[in-house]
Amino acid sequence: MNVLIVGAAGAIGAALLERYLQNPEIERIVATHHLPKRSAHDKLQWLACDLRDEQAIAACAEQIAAMELPIHRWVCASGYLQGPLGGPEKSMRNIRSAKLHDDFAVNTIGPVLLFSAMANKLKLVPGFKAAFLSAQVGSIEDNQLGGWFGYRMSKAALNMGIRCLAIEAGRWRNEPTIVAIHPGTTVSNLSKDFVKQRKAPLQTAAHCAEKLDHLIEQLSAEGTGQFYRLDGSQLPW
Ligand SMILES: NC(=O)c1ccc[n+]([C@@H]2O[C@H](COP(=O)([O-])OP(=O)(O)OC[C@H]3O[C@@H](n4cnc5c(N)ncnc54)[C@H](OP(=O)(O)O)[C@@H]3O)[C@@H](O)[C@H]2O)c1
Repeated sequence: MNVLIVGAAGAIGAALLERYLQNPEIERIVATHHLPKRSAHDKLQWLACDLRDEQAIAACAEQIAAMELPIHRWVCASGYLQGPLGGPEKSMRNIRSAKLHDDFAVNTIGPVLLFSAMANKLKLVPGFKAAFLSAQVGSIEDNQLGGWFGYRMSKAALNMGIRCLAIEAGRWRNEPTIVAIHPGTTVSNLSKDFVKQRKAPLQTAAHCAEKLDHLIEQLSAEGTGQFYRLDGSQLPW
């Protein structure tokens, strides 16, 4: 089995990569990184991909196609909450266009574009599964608090993109499984500034990756196009 991990240098992506490296059933791993930090391994190939850059996404998809490697598991573990343009908006007064553009570029447009650029190859792989890490705060129905406009809006839009991909890909000859997954609050660079008041211990990235791996293997094409928690229960869109 061969795997692609998008954002494999992040906390959850790196923990999943580590897990897949230890799994003898996984022969090859293609991993994308954004900033230049990476580890080496015989069965691992890194590719640079900035999800804000359409040309970089197309080049990444072309490089993967040139490998002529059937990808059986496609996991998007990239995500963006705060950066040089600021953090999550507490109020509508804080909404800024440039920050929203970044949120949408990394969380929504990049992952959907990369998937779409690879679809012609992915559709040929029997038993293909794709898991996009989304976030519960991207659920419109679940939103009782407001705030975090850019992150919530971009994850809600990602969810719609995943649903559309799953419906369209459901017409492929080899029925795929394409889902959104909320990984749960996890120790990471993305979460660290927002969990300081929490008393209960947080889930480690390794624990998250273990549950994520099990969930992906449990899911089948009947469960495509849905939004899951790590325990396999469904979230409302
Ligand atoms: N941690 C949580 O509590 C939590 C909760 C709910 C949902 N999630 C979701 O889970 C996923 C993984 O998050 P994490 O906690 O592991 O966060 P993380 O450690 O901050 O990792 C984020 C990943 O996204 C990549 N990324 C950021 N900007 C990028 C860009 N422009 N182009 C390409 N890649 C980019 C990062 O790459 P670089 O490091 O190279 O920039 C990194 O690999 C995200 O989708 C997040 O929204 C996390």
